[in-house]
Amino acid sequence: MLPRSFRTIRRSVLAAALGLFAVAPLSSQTPSRSTAPHLERRGAATQLIVDGKPFLMLAGELGNNAATTMEAVRPIWTNLVAMHLNTALIALSWAQIEPKEGEFDWSLVDGLLQGARDNHLHVVFLWFGSWKNTWSSYAPDWVKADYTRFPRTRQRNGTPDERLTPLSAVNRDADARAFASLMQHIRAVDAETHTVLMMQVENEVGSIPDARDYSPVANDAFAKPVPKALVDDLVAHKDTLAPDLRAAWQTSNFRTNGTWEELFGKALTTDEFFMAWHYATYINAVADAGKQAYDIPMFANAALIRTSYVPGQYNSGGPLPQSFDIWHAGAPRLDMLAPDIYFNFKEWTAKYDRPDNPLFVPETFGGAAGAPNAFYALGHEDAMGFSPFGIGGEPDATDVLGPVYDALAQLTPLILEHQSSGTGMDAVVVDGLTRAQRIRVGDYTLDLTPLGAGGATSRGAETPPFGLFIATGPNEYVMAGSGLGIKFTPETPGASYVGLGTVQEGRFVDGRWVTSRQLGGDDTGQGTALSLRGTPHGPGMLRVTLYRYQ
Ligand code: DGJ
Repeated sequence: MLPRSFRTIRRSVLAAALGLFAVAPLSSQTPSRSTAPHLERRGAATQLIVDGKPFLMLAGELGNNAATTMEAVRPIWTNLVAMHLNTALIALSWAQIEPKEGEFDWSLVDGLLQGARDNHLHVVFLWFGSWKNTWSSYAPDWVKADYTRFPRTRQRNGTPDERLTPLSAVNRDADARAFASLMQHIRAVDAETHTVLMMQVENEVGSIPDARDYSPVANDAFAKPVPKALVDDLVAHKDTLAPDLRAAWQTSNFRTNGTWEELFGKALTTDEFFMAWHYATYINAVADAGKQAYDIPMFANAALIRTSYVPGQYNSGGPLPQSFDIWHAGAPRLDMLAPDIYFNFKEWTAKYDRPDNPLFVPETFGGAAGAPNAFYALGHEDAMGFSPFGIGGEPDATDVLGPVYDALAQLTPLILEHQSSGTGMDAVVVDGLTRAQRIRVGDYTLDLTPLGAGGATSRGAETPPFGLFIATGPNEYVMAGSGLGIKFTPETPGASYVGLGTVQEGRFVDGRWVTSRQLGGDDTGQGTALSLRGTPHGPGMLRVTLYRYQ
């Protein structure tokens, strides 16, 4: 993420340049049907470009096995549409695609693509190849049964695990061949349509229960010098290395040749760095094989660390912040490293939103507590997408994700524009630690205070107060959210007092604002304070002009 001060300056400049309620679709790019989905730096943000235009993924990840047959997935599509998703994250298992070595079955992939297209949805496939949550349960039987040819990891005490070792070139090449075939097939059936946006390569890799693999091939590599390619990269980025990695390397006075323990010390973190290199280079080879067939964005996802856990209690060597430098050195073919966030949402998004790592949240908690984080990820951290896990069931009366995505779909052109301009937009989710908040958006500071009983909707779903605020002109805002009172303080020279001009509740229909009620009097604190109350169904939306007086 860019420093906040930089983003604020950029955002004020854009706010000044925009006209009153500038809400028309904002990208004027000419769609190019022949360009594959890709990531592109657009101003202050890296965005996913689909058919020549930036695309915001309002996504959900299906349960691991929810789409393993067409019969199972059939009822799910309409639920996704009803919840205003535009993208489904769907697992594809190596076992189903290559049930016999060298013999591929594309019927499921083709059926899923047809189902998605019939429902105007995009897809991000999750390649459950060598690993899913550290284990190898989605590898084909011909791999699982041949433990001599396809070696497993071993625990320190010698016990073998049902986890393919990342130190085996045979494992890697078998996975890479399958993945390359998959990408060839996707290219053949989707290169013009672009239903498939991105690929997640493997799932939540890492070593458990020990911090590293103790198989013979791993022990051998661990006793050898740290590969020169990694050392050279660390030397080149010495001043910006993750603090834990730098501190470990400093113990050897930044030695540039020697074993892992000679360079980084005898510690579980050294085991972790060793595994990070081997997972990264393995996955890089798989991604590279896939990209040679069809080059669309690819990423690896991380299971995150709970407080006081040590490597091996969490996925040691996964794409975690302390190993970012190693992953970036070992897996340059990956477009990003992505966090699966089930706690401390803000902390983790801040760690993964970096100038060298655009943010996508492929897994997180949904529901009333989690769905509002979509506002925060897209509006505060400039994420390219948000995707709660376990989506696909019929939305019930307390569903919050659907209404949240409905609002975000309406605001998508504005969000994309302001992500790229880096100015005039911010979002909050008010949790226990951050009750009242002050945020600068455009030419004003907004004082945000939780209203009454938070963001309870009349349907019984308890959301935290949340909101997304966009300066659409020098004295104009569009905002969406629930449970927040808002007062404005001017930040530019001129009269000191602020009044609310025109305040409208409403929604965007085909990019045009449609007012449902015009507000004044009691509903605007007699023209002094806004109440973003939300609707019985989730976030409400307001359009507001301000004026100043002395
Ligand atoms: C994280 C994994 O990546 C998902 O596949 C799934 O198993 C969830 N955990 C379950 O909470």
